[in-house]
This record gives sequence, structure tokens and C-alpha cells, in this order.
Amino acid sequence: MRILEIALILNLIHLCNCLGQNLSQDSNKALLKPYGDVSYFLCRRNKTFHPINLNLNLNDLNIDLPVKLIIHGFTENITVLWYKAIVDAYLIKNDYNLILVDWSIKANLPYFDAVESSSSVGSSIGDFLIKLITTKKIYLDNVHIIGHSLGSHVAGFVGKRIFKITKSKVSRITGLDPAGPLFEIPSKSPEYRLSKEDAKFVDIIHTDGGIFGFKASIGHADFFPNGGTAIQSGCEITKLEDFKKWTKQIRYSIHFISVKAIKEYSIQIYSE
Ligand SMILES: *[C@@H]1O[C@H](CO)[C@@H](O)[C@H](O)[C@H]1NC(C)=O
Ligand SMILES: *[C@@H]1O[C@H](CO)[C@@H](O)[C@H](O)[C@H]1NC(C)=O
Ligand SMILES: *[C@@H]1O[C@H](CO)[C@@H](O)[C@H](O)[C@H]1NC(C)=O
Repeated sequence: MRILEIALILNLIHLCNCLGQNLSQDSNKALLKPYGDVSYFLCRRNKTFHPINLNLNLNDLNIDLPVKLIIHGFTENITVLWYKAIVDAYLIKNDYNLILVDWSIKANLPYFDAVESSSSVGSSIGDFLIKLITTKKIYLDNVHIIGHSLGSHVAGFVGKRIFKITKSKVSRITGLDPAGPLFEIPSKSPEYRLSKEDAKFVDIIHTDGGIFGFKASIGHADFFPNGGTAIQSGCEITKLEDFKKWTKQIRYSIHFISVKAIKEYSIQIYSE
């Protein structure tokens, strides 16, 4: 097991560097002039990583490619390690319109306020996507939204907004360990959190149920690796704790995000 773990970590380090993107370096420049409370960054194969907004830099969007819109969680920002891992994992596989969201202005408020802000942030991201759709930069049917933790509920609010305005649903939302506090405990009704109504297909990976994560099933497909609760195997309290936790989460996410990898995932679980 140890050897497998080390191999995965080395693999992740490799992934983080292999496409030559330097998210932290480039984004710090971009963050000097943020617009509004939410910023968007586009990653494509063979294109420079750069911020996009509705007035500039939309030419690098390719309408024929799938759109993956990725939303970080509480206290995070564009420089989180897993953004880079997920970008590299996708771009190795194929070319995509990968839109990384930075909503750090609200996500770094105290938790209660960040939760309060999650619906307006989601609506604002929804309006951004609707604009891209109505100006024929992307197709709604190509949109897959991936949110982590509090970002999962933001993703839900994006879906609600898009349905409210267009009467159509985005094709898929993936919730990676959706936040539990103030969503499940105390319990909120589906209109105030991510729910299976928010997209045609909602898949959830529960990895911290009952602590920081949602314990109950809230999607069309809910996965509970190792029972879905902390502490996940390989994530014991050590100096490497955070890094390994992310490694594990990213590993599960990448497996699940492509449906045909589910078999591979099962093999891995059994091997543990
Ligand atoms: C990425 O950017 C950081 C911060 O500027 C820098 O220290 C690091 O060397 C860069 N890495 C690569 C691979 O360019
Ligand atoms: C585009 O990116 C792919 C994958 O990273 C690479 O194999 C290919 O050579 C690149 N093409 C150009 C023109 O840079
Ligand atoms: C982004 O997050 C990192 C890690 O928490 C932090 O060190 C950095 O200051 C943050 N950057 C901004 C612009 O908030």
C-alpha cells in the first residue's frame, strides 16, 4: 500500500508540471486586476493560460469542445494545487474549454458569510455562462460544472440560475465532497443547496461525510469511497496530511469524472 501511495504522489507531482502551465505565477499577475467578485481563467491545450471576461479574450473558446467549469471551495483561490492537477489530467486526455473560477473574495470571508454568498456567486457565474451561450461561444449541452466543498453548492446555484433563465438544465454537475455544515446540519431544503434538480445528471463523491462533508445522497449517483467518511485511507494525520488528502480526492475525482474509469476505480478500492 505504501508503495502505491508514494507512486501516486510522484505521479501527481509529475502531472502538475508536465504541461508547463504555471497557474500560480500567471494568475498572480491576472489577479492584480480582478473584475467583480468572480474571475474566470481559461485553460486550453497549446494556449496560454489567461483570464477571460465577457469583453476580451473569448476567442480561445472553441464552441465544439466540452466545457468544464471548475469551482474551488471555502478559503481557496485560483492557486489551489488541485486546479493544476485537474487541468493537467484533462488536457493530457483531450482538448477542452477548461474554465477555472476564482471566487476567493467571497470564499475567504468567515464561513457563515461565505455560505451566505454562495447563491449570489452561483447566480453570477450562471449569468456569465448564459452570456457565453447566447453569444454562441459555447453550447449549454456541453457544460459540465465541477465544484469542491462549498464550491459544490455554488455549482448547484449556477445550475438553478441557468434553469431559471433558460428553462434548460446544464448536462452535468459533479460535487466533490459537498460541504455539510449549514447545508445538511442544520438541514436546508434542495432549493438552498446542491440537489439533483440542478442538472440533467448530478454525481457526488462523498469523502468526508458527517464532518465537513455532506453525508446523505443528494445526486442521481452518489459514491461513497471507503464508506464516504473521513479519515480516508491514506489520509491519516501526518505531516503530509493535506497533500495526501488532496492526492486522494483528486485521484477519486479524476477516476469518476470519466465514466469509463469507474471499473478502474473499483479495482483500486478492492486492491486497498
Ligand atoms: C511557477 O511560479 C512560481 C512563482 O512565481 C515560481 O517560483 C516557480 O519557479 C514557477 N515554476 C515553473 C515551473 O516555472
Ligand atoms: C498541442 O498540444 C499537444 C498536447 O499537449 C501536443 O502533442 C501538440 O504537439 C501541440 N501542438 C502544437 C502545435 O503545439
Ligand atoms: C491564495 O491562496 C494561497 C494559499 O492559501 C495564499 O497563500 C495566497 O495568498 C492566496 N492568494 C490570494 C490572491 O488570495
